[in-house]
Amino acid sequence: MLQFLQRPLSLPFVLTIFLFFTWISLHFHTAFKASSSSLHWTTIHDINANLLRFRSGIPSNILKDECGWLLDPLSLASASGISGGAITCASIHAGEIRPGKLRGNHRHHDCNETLVIWGAMTRYRLENNKVPHKRYGEVTIGSDDIIVAASPSGTAHAIKNIDHIRSTFFLGCQDNVISYNVSSTDFNVWKDL
Ligand SMILES: *[C@@H]1O[C@H](CO)[C@@H](O)[C@H](O)[C@H]1NC(C)=O
Ligand SMILES: *[C@@H]1O[C@H](CO)[C@@H](O)[C@H](O)[C@H]1NC(C)=O
Repeated sequence: MLQFLQRPLSLPFVLTIFLFFTWISLHFHTAFKASSSSLHWTTIHDINANLLRFRSGIPSNILKDECGWLLDPLSLASASGISGGAITCASIHAGEIRPGKLRGNHRHHDCNETLVIWGAMTRYRLENNKVPHKRYGEVTIGSDDIIVAASPSGTAHAIKNIDHIRSTFFLGCQDNVISYNVSSTDFNVWKDL
């Protein structure tokens, strides 16, 4: 082996091995950095956006059995101290948001709302006057995440699919029958979405 490495021909071979290990080490370093920083990022921003985040994969506390995840958004929210959402559902909306599309970006004045969002890389924004300058909390929902979010009456929210392939799905529970008229809802709250 040593004799082999001393031969000039072996130089490309050694270089290839070196490059391979450099690539491996860089790869893992970046992967680790990405996951640890997103974890840190997640906790603060999840609080500002008034939401709970769950993973669909193992380990997960919403995975009841091998069928997959299942949750009761209202009881989960109240048990976890997420306040301001609906306590009961007077109306329910379920829907899809296709890649690149935006829903919400409005502010209801006549209902509190609890949302469940999953399925794709999604940006969720909630108006929050406690956040300096921006006045909103914003998170990125991964395609394996399921979030339960509360949006109190008078608080704007927006859901934007930022995935290239998958659809975002959502369920919205409102404690009042929403009328989408001018006096009860403000539309197009944020212009930068
Ligand atoms: C929304 O929540 C607030 C605070 O819990 C409550 O006073 C109000 O009745 C709820 N419903 C509507 C439609 O605003
Ligand atoms: C708008 O909705 C509110 C709340 O449901 C209702 O009281 C009001 O009459 C509606 N206004 C119009 C112009 O339809």
